[in-house]
Amino acid sequence: MFQIFAYLRYWLRSGNAHGLHSPFVFGLYTTVICHDGEFGAFSRIEARRRELLRSSKAITVRDFGAGSQVAGAGGALRRVRAIARHAAKAPRLAQLLFRLVNHFQPATVLELGTSLGLTTAYLAAARSRSQVITFEGCPNTAAEARETFEKLDLKNVRLVEGNLDHTLPATLAGLPKPVDFVFFDGNHRYEPTLRYFEQCLAKAHENSVFVLDDIHWSAEMEQAWEAIKVHPAVTVTVDLFYVGLVFFRKTQPRQDFWLRY
Ligand SMILES: C[S@@+](CC[C@H](N)C(=O)[O-])C[C@H]1O[C@@H](n2cnc3c(N)ncnc32)[C@H](O)[C@@H]1O
Repeated sequence: MFQIFAYLRYWLRSGNAHGLHSPFVFGLYTTVICHDGEFGAFSRIEARRRELLRSSKAITVRDFGAGSQVAGAGGALRRVRAIARHAAKAPRLAQLLFRLVNHFQPATVLELGTSLGLTTAYLAAARSRSQVITFEGCPNTAAEARETFEKLDLKNVRLVEGNLDHTLPATLAGLPKPVDFVFFDGNHRYEPTLRYFEQCLAKAHENSVFVLDDIHWSAEMEQAWEAIKVHPAVTVTVDLFYVGLVFFRKTQPRQDFWLRY
């Protein structure tokens, strides 16, 4: 119910390229966001998705995030195919992330929340010279993701296993380079989302791009999104309903956009 009202609000507020006065956002919207082209890597990744969707394997899942109350401390038994259906980003969104990486050419990409590694694969395939560091708390889910990377022969992915509360600050502290692109898709709660945002921001630069998933998934996530929009370091935000894009470019006037996607 919450998401239905959130979608209605978004629908009433959002527009398309007409009347978009920011050349930066207009170019991004018309050439990257709305460009539904097919790239060579897509078919192999989607073949792996089909394999996971057919899998009858069950694994014990430990959830350190918003689902932790449901799974319980000892974890819950879940079918791999159910995880592939419900946790992984749909091809359309994962392919949007591919196009964003392809467009901005980030050297260092972080993904908070790996799951089975399908979106990681899109992030990694978009620029083979980038380093993609992906974080997953559940060891059994991480093992499935490793299989995804091996099967797709992705050499530019590093999977960091463990609770983001500990692994994210430790990994960021050890990074020799700044962070160019971050996809936030783990632990969909207000406080951790803002904390991870601040931690990544400390290693970001003016041209870094942050993408937040599920910004209208719950009241808490909407609250986190609203707090990020008014953060003093943020200049431009783009609400695409399923994901929110955040930019820190100092040459841009401060503005929030709602765009149909
Ligand atoms: C929505 S799924 C990620 C989906 C993935 N990005 C994709 O599109 O295929 C969220 C993942 O984040 C992991 N996660 C949640 N909270 C976490 C935490 N505090 N530390 C590490 N991983 C966490 C969960 O185990 C889950 O696999």
